[in-house]
Amino acid sequence: MMKAFIKTYGCQMNERDSDALAADLVKAGYSITDVEAEADILLFNTCSVRDAAERKAKGKIGFMRKLKKQNPDLIIGVMGCMAQRMGNTLLEELPHLDFVLGTGQLHKLLEVIEQVKRERVKTALTEPSPEVLTGLDGHYGNSIKGQIAITRGCNRFCSYCIVPYVRGRELSREKGDIIAEAREMVSRGAREILLLGQNVAAYGLNGDIRPPAPDHSPFAELLEELETIPELLRIRFTSPYPSYFNSRLIETIAKSDKICHNIHLPLQSGSDRILKAMNRQYTNESYREKVAELKSAIKDLTLSTDVIVGFPGETDEDFALTRELMNDVGFEQSYIFKYSPRPGAKSAEVPDSIPESVKEERNQILLDDLSKRIVSRLESMVGSTVTVLAEGVSARNDARWTGRTDNNIVVHFEPDDTIKAGTLRQVKITRSGGVSLFGELR
Ligand code: 5AD
Ligand code: SF4
Repeated sequence: MMKAFIKTYGCQMNERDSDALAADLVKAGYSITDVEAEADILLFNTCSVRDAAERKAKGKIGFMRKLKKQNPDLIIGVMGCMAQRMGNTLLEELPHLDFVLGTGQLHKLLEVIEQVKRERVKTALTEPSPEVLTGLDGHYGNSIKGQIAITRGCNRFCSYCIVPYVRGRELSREKGDIIAEAREMVSRGAREILLLGQNVAAYGLNGDIRPPAPDHSPFAELLEELETIPELLRIRFTSPYPSYFNSRLIETIAKSDKICHNIHLPLQSGSDRILKAMNRQYTNESYREKVAELKSAIKDLTLSTDVIVGFPGETDEDFALTRELMNDVGFEQSYIFKYSPRPGAKSAEVPDSIPESVKEERNQILLDDLSKRIVSRLESMVGSTVTVLAEGVSARNDARWTGRTDNNIVVHFEPDDTIKAGTLRQVKITRSGGVSLFGELR
């Protein structure tokens, strides 16, 4: 049996794509290995969001030349966003590659592999195709937590972002297909589903970038239908653009006991001047209003965010506004990124003016704020009882199990005889481990 190895870089959408492709490979008779040296096919599903992500993948792929020398039959393919962005150039830069498969052509993986085996010619496919929308619905992983891509691409064109160029225009899947996929996953044991899209709450809006009327949200309708699947216990989603949280959607989340009250609300910057240059359609004030609206409607809400430091022209005052807003909102989790100019994106037309040392310093300040907040938040939970979705034996200590709270906090606990993965259990928190919690089953 031929063996395939897949390494994934970047976001959850990429993880999801790799999982669907692994399912296609298995269906075609391949097995999946996590040992590069024993694979007949090496696949790299890449990311272009920052230069560092591309460099990391290129370094790793370059290293594979050695394996190709030892085994000339080895097939090496690069897929995903960097493949889409660079196409043929990648084949020229890395001559030991056999094929390059962009984001719009992922559904052609098996075909390309067969072609390479037959003809041993190099191929780069980067045409956008709507077939990826329907063609990637398999699941290789069989876990209690599953992911479904509901939209693909992005129409927002934030000035720093490469996604609209490498993943193309925003498209939504048919609701019936999504529900069928969810039912299928649940029948195979999934109890939590994470809905994915570059702009997930724009689901069903036909790519319109005007925020919808207050009472209109096809995304809320989709959530409500998913909720009716009896064995499905939890629904999460990422990433929504702040302005798509209208009253219809907020109400749906507020009244649900399956949709997790933990929302990712990408901020990017707290300075109106920078937000404008980023082409983000909100201000410091309107973002705060949205947070207030969400917090007042949704009980025990926790928020996480994405922030970019060192965007061209970001002054100390701009940065101070971001820091202040983050501390006022009190995000439970933040992903902080140092600005990286991306070829083709609008912001790359102006110089990357903030020195690396300043980016690093701002990054560190926000990370320190965040870790203080997490430590005190976790300590404040000691003594309380939380509901966790039991996931299985802890990776670090096999005498323990782990689960997550609705707010996505990891809890370690000693199992009892009745413990079962995929069930909701009450755990009394006995101590904080800094980034996760420890407790006892009730
Ligand atoms: N530089 C740094 N961070 C970026 N992101 C997107 N583009 C860039 C860039 N050019 C960040 C944003 C986005 C997250 C997925 O990556 O914060 O929300
Ligand atoms: Fe990276 Fe964005 Fe592509 Fe995801 S969609 S892999 S984050 S460039």
